[in-house]
Parts: sequence; structure tokens; C-alpha cells
Amino acid sequence: MRVVIQKGYEEMCAWTAQYIAQAIRAKEPGASFVLGLPTGSSPLGVYRRLIEMNKAGEVSFRDVVTFNMDEYLGLSSEHEQSYHRFMWTRFFEHIDIPGENVNILDGMAQDPEAECAAYEQAILDAGGIDLFLGGIGVDGHVAFNEPFTSLGSRTGVRTLTSDTRIANARFFGGDPEQVPGRALSVGVGTVCDAREVVVLISGYNKARALAATVEGGVSQMWTCSALQLHPNAVIACDEAACGELKVDTYRYFLDVEKDQRL
Ligand code: GLP
Repeated sequence: MRVVIQKGYEEMCAWTAQYIAQAIRAKEPGASFVLGLPTGSSPLGVYRRLIEMNKAGEVSFRDVVTFNMDEYLGLSSEHEQSYHRFMWTRFFEHIDIPGENVNILDGMAQDPEAECAAYEQAILDAGGIDLFLGGIGVDGHVAFNEPFTSLGSRTGVRTLTSDTRIANARFFGGDPEQVPGRALSVGVGTVCDAREVVVLISGYNKARALAATVEGGVSQMWTCSALQLHPNAVIACDEAACGELKVDTYRYFLDVEKDQRL
């Protein structure tokens, strides 16, 4: 596992945007780059930078195919707090990605389980995910894979914990009851099947989750810990999130990264 410690949130986002752009550019011409994407506040700075780089001609999304991590069950794509709306307003409508290359789970699907199975198949049909960018919940959830979700799970319907509904209430007028209780989400196994996974962990409130990801045992209590088994996982974090790491862990990763630019 690589742990890239940056000074603050902005530096973490700048590093990650450069890293993703480099991966997209490295794909052989004519081949699609398949990119997994998260919502939440953590990736916003990355999206902002990728938009700037796209406008400056430094990276193109014409041959990029995206798969989003999750969507609330019962929210239509027009709903202000749907992850469809989030992704289009915060990212897709500002870059040169063809609309048909964007894949997001349908929160209004008649048969949610069938929707999830079709999504897994669509990822396979696209050749698998080259790079899955993720965020993390305070309880270590990746996508909506709450504690106790199998580390081998595939795309499916998830029940959100009260903690997550409380954390996400800030987008629903502060009322956790307004946050949908269930969501469609890629599985931990789906994320770990990506050829590369990059997870953003920023801020003091994510310090326990970062320690569990890097130093804890592999456990379904912290679904983020499954990344320890991934051959190509990168944790991009900031100083504030490092508060619960052992000093030696922190120093070791700074040492490893000393001479790396990206
Ligand atoms: C939601 C999303 C996750 C995201 C998490 C953290 O629960 N389903 O994919 O990682 O929020 O969000 P934030 O980055 O706002 O802390």
C-alpha cells in the first residue's frame, strides 16, 4: 500500500488530480480508460482541478468511461441530492466526456437487484476498472459498504447506518430522517477488482478511519481495510487525517515518498 501524505486538503487534491491525469494519458491511444468515481466532499477539489486541466488541454476525457460508486435508493436523477445531480453539476458537465460514457446506478430502478447485477456486468463488459477513486466515511465505509459488509461483496442494495445518515444529513436540511435509508452501491469486491484504487482521506474526523485502513487488521468492521489486500492501492491523505497513526508509521511513509513526484 502507498500512503501519500500531503500538507492539507488542497495539496492532497492537487496530487491526486495529477496522478489521475497521468494515468489517463498513459493509456494507449484508442483504448478507453475506465475510471471509478465517488461523491462526497472529499473528491470536490480533485474534480475542480481535473476540470481546470481539461480546459487547459492537459487531459481529455473523450476516451474515458466512468462508473460511479453509488446512488441513494429512491432518489431520481433529477433530485437535488442524488449522486447523478452531484456528478453532473460538479464534474461531468464541465469536461469533454461524452454523455454515453457515464455510468451511474439508477436509484429509481424497478428491480434494484437486477440493476446492480447489470452494473457489475457493464463494468466487466467495459474491460474492468483501471482506476477506482474513492472517498471514505468516518466509519471507514468505502462507497456505501458500511461496517459488516462482506469484503467480497459485489454491487447490491445496502442499508445505511444511523451514523452515515447523521453525517449526510447536512445535505438534507440537517434532518437524518430525510436521508434515504438505503442505497445501491458497488461492493468492496467490485472496488478491489479495479487494477488500481486511490482513496482520499482528509481531515481530523477521518483519523481513525485512516489508522484502520493502514495499521488495523483486515476486518469487515472497517471495510476500507480490504485495501490492504490490494496489490495497487494508494491512500492520498492530509496531515490532519494522520493524527491516529503511529509516529513510526507516519515517518516510514514520508520516507518512502521522499523522492517520488507522483
Ligand atoms: C458518502 C458516500 C461515500 C463517501 C462518504 C464520505 O457516504 N457514499 O462514497 O466516501 O460519503 O463523504 P465525505 O467525502 O463528504 O466525507
